[in-house]
Amino acid sequence: MLRRRPFAVFTLAALTTVGVAMTAEAGTRIERKAWGTTPEGQTVELFTLSREGAPTVAVTNHGAYLVSILAPDRDGQAADVILGYSDLAGYLADGGYLGAVVGRYANRIAGGTFSLGGQTYTLARNNGPNHLHGGPGGFHRKLWTPRVVTGPEGDTLELTYLSVDGEEGYPGALTATVVYSLTAEGGLRLDYSATTDASTVVNLTNHAYFNLAGEGSGDILGHEMQIESNAFTPVDETLIPTGELRPVEGSPLDFRKPVALGARIDDPYPQLQAGGGYDHNFVVRGAPGELRLAARVYEPGSGRVLEVLTTEPGVQLYSGNFLDGSIVGKSGRPYEKRGGFCLETQHFPDSPNQPEFPPVVLEPGDRYEQTTVFRFSVR
Ligand code: BGC
Repeated sequence: MLRRRPFAVFTLAALTTVGVAMTAEAGTRIERKAWGTTPEGQTVELFTLSREGAPTVAVTNHGAYLVSILAPDRDGQAADVILGYSDLAGYLADGGYLGAVVGRYANRIAGGTFSLGGQTYTLARNNGPNHLHGGPGGFHRKLWTPRVVTGPEGDTLELTYLSVDGEEGYPGALTATVVYSLTAEGGLRLDYSATTDASTVVNLTNHAYFNLAGEGSGDILGHEMQIESNAFTPVDETLIPTGELRPVEGSPLDFRKPVALGARIDDPYPQLQAGGGYDHNFVVRGAPGELRLAARVYEPGSGRVLEVLTTEPGVQLYSGNFLDGSIVGKSGRPYEKRGGFCLETQHFPDSPNQPEFPPVVLEPGDRYEQTTVFRFSVR
């Protein structure tokens, strides 16, 4: 106590003279290093973001992947809470979108086709009869141009990708940007934006698989999940929304109060059978465009809490049903079925074909924006 007072006085005095520099020092620092090369010989980098009171986060400009999030448990012990690979080679070959930024259109488009301005566009059918996550050459496969920008809160990482007209079948040249930053409240913030030179559709998200007990530590069925949602978009057997907004009440998709992810996951509820567990878009309560709480997850063993805030109308809860142990993760342990869960903040799946859903068309001169914060704390 005796020592803190003079220190506080000194800090205040210093702040008035070198205000900006002091603030920057208290904010985020980014270290960058070369991380390997693509098969085409382009250099890939790894960026590490750190800030007092926030998790330490690694991001690569290949696919704009989130590579690791080191977050402390209730005893201060850090663990990596997202699934991923130990090196760039793993990410270059990734088929599970482990931490990827997904685009141009996250989730499914029915039959791999949609119409816009009287024209029909044909996309790859890379998921049964449907198009998934922007196609085989989606944004997760691209090298993004990095820029470290220093502002009043320290460094932020800006990644930009120019998707040419016709890429993966989508119309219009789209410039997409994702800014990764750490917040003073322990959050990892992702600010996405995009502009186009012709009418197109866009829906960007991050596909991180979380395991708050630490990646590779087993299944996520004991995590307590709360979702700020009264309704979800039921799907057909190929996981395309039927168009209905169904109240969660009385179903195993009711997460309005915290409940273990595993408590009802194998209930004989037809919607759970379609996805082999949770693989559903929830309508987030409140006004799209406003940054608001979408979900809160608590892992009782470690005490870690993850809160997901977003401006998006929906969030996809995916309980890692298709993980099958074939991916060996960054610490050498296989990722078994339900070894991670995703909370993908997004526009609703198949919106280009569902006029009743919030619109996903981007016109020249307009700007697509979405913000999502993954905020960590302990209980
Ligand atoms: C989809 C799942 C899919 C997973 C990995 C999720 O966004 O909803 O159906 O298996 O991504 O591709």
